[in-house]
Amino acid sequence: MIVKDARFEITAVSPAQYPQSNLPEIAFVGRSNVGKSSIINSLLNRKKLARISGTPGKTREINFYNVNEKLFFVDLPGYGYASVSKQKKSSWGNIIETYLLTRHQLKVIILLVDVRHEPSADDKQMYDWLVANNVPHMVVATKIDKITRSAVNPRLSDIRKALNAAEGIKVFPYSSETRQGREALWEAIDEYVEE
Ligand code: GTP
Ligand code: MG
Repeated sequence: MIVKDARFEITAVSPAQYPQSNLPEIAFVGRSNVGKSSIINSLLNRKKLARISGTPGKTREINFYNVNEKLFFVDLPGYGYASVSKQKKSSWGNIIETYLLTRHQLKVIILLVDVRHEPSADDKQMYDWLVANNVPHMVVATKIDKITRSAVNPRLSDIRKALNAAEGIKVFPYSSETRQGREALWEAIDEYVEE
């Protein structure tokens, strides 16, 4: 997709606050600090549309971004940040789960993991949950600029194995810093939005 126009639409916690629209949605999920807001900015060619914070765990709501009046990118709250209280953790879990289970126009969820690390217990739990609930998904291994080029493919296959990803599921390499992987990921996203 050629991004002509991208803008912030709305912040929501409960379904009543979601945009009242039937446009297709692509949602990004992953640990705090993994780079969800950054990948949204990089896919949309915008530096500061989605807020990037130095402090992990900052995004506690769902943020919707309108792309070309054709679809929404959905920035979900990050999970797995240690210093957050248990009670807050479960309320964020509810925010994510409610969105994923109720939003009919959700076309695909993009699970972000850090290419450098073994997926965490939270990542695996999220992945298993997506599979168990039949939510269409893709995996993106981000921050590839932080490792050498030759290390990328072995890391991708380790991540696949750790998540126990089914054969048809691709793990896309990405860097929001250098924008490597941007075209391939847009092509994959386009398949879900252009029917
Ligand atoms: P929460 O909103 O807290 O859940 O975090 P997030 O997943 O939205 O992460 P965010 O995009 O705010 O990025 C976290 C940090 O990682 C920032 O300092 C980014 O600059 C950095 N970062 C994100 N993506 C990349 C990448 O591809 N390469 C490099 N080198 N840094 C990245
Ligand atoms: Mg964020």
